[in-house]
Amino acid sequence: MHPATGARARSMAAAALAMLLYMWTCMSGVAGAVTSAAADLLDDVPTIAFEEGFSPLFGEDNMVRSPDGRTVSITLNRYTGSGFISSDYYHHGFFSADIKLPKDHTAGVVVAFYLSNGDVFEKTHDELDFEFLGNRYRHEWKMQTNVYGNGSTDRGREERYLMPFDPAAAAHRFSILWSSRVIIFYVDGTPIREVPRAPAMGADYPSKPMALYVTIWDGSTWATDNGKYKVNYKRGPFTAVFSELVLRGCRALSDIRLASVDDQERCAGAGAGADDRGLRHHDSQEADGDAAVPAEADALHGMPTQARQESELKPV
Ligand SMILES: *[C@@H]1O[C@H](CO)[C@@H](O)[C@H](O)[C@H]1NC(C)=O
Repeated sequence: MHPATGARARSMAAAALAMLLYMWTCMSGVAGAVTSAAADLLDDVPTIAFEEGFSPLFGEDNMVRSPDGRTVSITLNRYTGSGFISSDYYHHGFFSADIKLPKDHTAGVVVAFYLSNGDVFEKTHDELDFEFLGNRYRHEWKMQTNVYGNGSTDRGREERYLMPFDPAAAAHRFSILWSSRVIIFYVDGTPIREVPRAPAMGADYPSKPMALYVTIWDGSTWATDNGKYKVNYKRGPFTAVFSELVLRGCRALSDIRLASVDDQERCAGAGAGADDRGLRHHDSQEADGDAAVPAEADALHGMPTQARQESELKPV
């Protein structure tokens, strides 16, 4: 991490923790699980085992879970890719995984970590993506983030980045914070892209419940240099490894097709006023009332450009 990024990342971390406190309140009615706002972002966030929040999505034969369920490998071979999905839909939340990408020649191989409701809303879906676009042997991996709201990419399609590390040599942490106010993509705890909500965005800002997807698949037609380099199965199989799974959000209770007003109010209303008192008073069980908009959250606005410039990830 660039030295100058540290302080900023920490202030972002404080804001994210405020958000997380709200989420715990939303889910369980109990806040205060966080004891140190200064702790490194995510190090305090509870991880879960696969069984606690996920289900296989496709290519189950190509999925291997560790005995404790905390590490999941998914493989693309010549027969199929593989993927899993959160068992619930979430209306806002914090989603994270440590990801180690397949090594050597991976042209055409796409690994994706993303939120979507595309299975439910075909024409008006929302989506927030990290997508890793394969690479040729000894070339750098490229990554992109995407933002769709209500079927539209007007607010932020495809920002691409070169990764400043070898994502196949060791796992790195990729995280998405989605609140009613802001979307932040993090790499190793450093914010690399922020999309603050503005009133003019309307439904271009993702605002329906989404599930978390984790997939590996054959993107030969477009992924690597616009499809110039296809998957070479002689160089496979291709395996991506996921661990430190984090799924913290306001669970959508009803059939999300019904666009439940209850969910909107329960999840979005409280999120907008995420109560930062939890950071100062750990016993903030009476979390409603005069919840002011947290200063930390305010501090997030207008920062994405700086965050991006200071990040070592280079848009390409
Ligand atoms: C979402 O998009 C659909 C189709 O374009 C449109 O009819 C609908 O009004 C949009 N929803 C909102 C909340 O703007």
